[in-house]
Amino acid sequence: MKAITYSEYGSPDVLELTERPMPKVGPGMVLVKVKAASVNPVDWKIMAGYLDAFMDLQFPAIPGWDVAGTVEAVGIDAPHFAPGDDVISYGRKDYVHGGSFAEYIALPERLLARKPKSLEWNESAGLPLAGLTAFQVLNRLGLTSGETVLIHGGSGGVGSLGIQIAVARDAKVIATASEKNHDFLRSLGAEPVAYGDGLGERVKALRPEGVDVVADFVGGNLEATLEVLAGNGRHASIADSEVEVHGGTWMWVNPVGAELQQLADLVDEHGIRVEVARTLPLAEAADAFRINMEGHTRGKIVVSVP
Ligand SMILES: NC(=O)c1ccc[n+]([C@@H]2O[C@H](COP(=O)([O-])OP(=O)(O)OC[C@H]3O[C@@H](n4cnc5c(N)ncnc54)[C@H](OP(=O)(O)O)[C@@H]3O)[C@@H](O)[C@H]2O)c1
Repeated sequence: MKAITYSEYGSPDVLELTERPMPKVGPGMVLVKVKAASVNPVDWKIMAGYLDAFMDLQFPAIPGWDVAGTVEAVGIDAPHFAPGDDVISYGRKDYVHGGSFAEYIALPERLLARKPKSLEWNESAGLPLAGLTAFQVLNRLGLTSGETVLIHGGSGGVGSLGIQIAVARDAKVIATASEKNHDFLRSLGAEPVAYGDGLGERVKALRPEGVDVVADFVGGNLEATLEVLAGNGRHASIADSEVEVHGGTWMWVNPVGAELQQLADLVDEHGIRVEVARTLPLAEAADAFRINMEGHTRGKIVVSVP
C-alpha cells in the first residue's frame, strides 16, 4: 500500500511517499481503508523527536493518529464492526509506527467509533483527536449549563470544537483568537476576545464577576487564567504543565472509542461543525504539516487518500 513515512527524526523534509506492506489484522483488530486523515500538532512534534523521551517509535514510521474510513476486514473476535462500516478513530496505539497517513491502517476495536452522519469524510477526519481532547477536558472540568467558560485558542482544531461542545451544554463561551478569526468564533457561538497583553482586563470587562471555567487549548496563558477565574473556578490546560502548581489540571487526551462515539453522537445531535481550512492529497502530506506548523490553522488541515 502507499503510505507517507519517515525514517529519521526531523522537519517535514524527512517525509516521503513510499510502498509499505499491508498491516496485519490481529485478534480484536479492524482494518480500515483510509478516506481521510488529519494533521495534529503532535504529529510533527513526534516527527521532530520532541516526545522521544517517553514515547516509543519504530522506523520507518507512518505518522497520523486521526482517521476516517471504511472497514475493509476484521480480525478474530472483533464483533463490534463489520466490513463496509464507516468509522473514525483517534488511533493512538502503544507505540508510533503504523499511522493514518496511508491507504490502510489496522486499529484495535476499542479505538473506533462510527462516523457522524452529518459530516463529510474530510470533516470526520478532523474530529477525533481535537474533538475528544475538548470533550474530555470539558467533562473533567464538569462544565454545566449556564456556566461561563473561557477558551484560550478558540479558532484552532481543539478550540473550535471545544466552543461548540460547550455551547451544546448551554454554557456561555468567551474564546480567544486573533482579530481575523473573531467572526468565525461568533459563528460558533462564542464571544471573541483578542489574546496577548491585557487579555485578563478584556475578559473582566465582559464578566466582572469572573468565569467559572477556563480551558487552555494553547499554553502560556496561566497569568490571564488566574486573573479571570471566579472564586471557586476550575481550570485545565492541554499545553501547560504549570497549571498543576495553581490548582489546575494538566491533561492528555485519552484514546477511548466509547467516548469518541459519545462525541460523534453529540455532533449529529447538535449540528457541530468541523472547520476544514485545507484538504491536500496524501502525496502532499509534507505541505499539510508545514501549514499546521505555522500555528495559525483555522480548524483543521486534512489529507485525503484516493
Ligand atoms: N494534551 C493534549 O492531549 C493535547 C491534545 C491536542 C492538542 N494539544 C496541543 O494543544 C495545542 C493546540 O492544538 P490544536 O490542534 O488546536 O492546534 P492548531 O489547530 O494548530 O491551533 C492553531 C490555532 O491556534 C491559535 N493561536 C495561536 N496562538 C494563540 C494564542 N497565543 N492564543 C490563542 N490562540 C492562539 C491560532 O489562532 P490565530 O490564527 O487567530 O492566532 C490558530 O487558530 C498544540 O500545542 C497541541 O500540541 C494537546
